[in-house]
Amino acid sequence: MTELTSDTQSGVEVIYSADMIATRLEGLAQEIIARGLERPLVVAVLKGSFVFAADLIRALHRSGLEPEVDFLTLSSYRKSRTSSGKVEILRDLDLGVDGRNVLLVDDVLDSGRTLVFAKDLISARGAKEILTCVLIDKKVPRAVNVHADFSAFEGGDEFVVGYGMDVAHRYRELPFVGRMMQKET
Ligand code: IMP
Ligand code: MG
Repeated sequence: MTELTSDTQSGVEVIYSADMIATRLEGLAQEIIARGLERPLVVAVLKGSFVFAADLIRALHRSGLEPEVDFLTLSSYRKSRTSSGKVEILRDLDLGVDGRNVLLVDDVLDSGRTLVFAKDLISARGAKEILTCVLIDKKVPRAVNVHADFSAFEGGDEFVVGYGMDVAHRYRELPFVGRMMQKET
């Protein structure tokens, strides 16, 4: 069977297919399990991580973990493809994190500002341990000092869409991660 390399309907070139992502997530879940987090609380940073987090928690379940899940909606990108440098809370967590072992899940680690903001917030609220997990760890210089404890894939300095990730609210529905074939105007 030929691997799908582009999606003519969306005009997005496939980087990580749905199959590649599914396979990698089983391995990623095993790596997370191996860290032995007790009573883990998964905090998914929205919106970009919602598809990744949904698949990851089910992979964790298949590996025998029973995480609780909460969501933190942050914004830094708005409509542009480059970070504004400022991170804001658009919707806060429901659950308390005091004394909890948190697995912080985001889609992309780029400048690091979003992950640092979320980590500092959860840490200030008394979390016991915070591990970070991203779908794509971009190997680019960070604006702040932060690293991903777990990542599904490593990426370069290019903007990706699909599998929950958008540009100007588009492409989140794509089942794969890809790059746009034509530059948007
Ligand atoms: P950072 O704060 O610069 O590390 O950027 C991380 C946030 O920016 C992530 O939560 C994403 O929502 C968004 N982001 C960064 N790079 C990309 C990308 O290539 N595609 C889609 N979103 C991205
Ligand atoms: Mg995000």
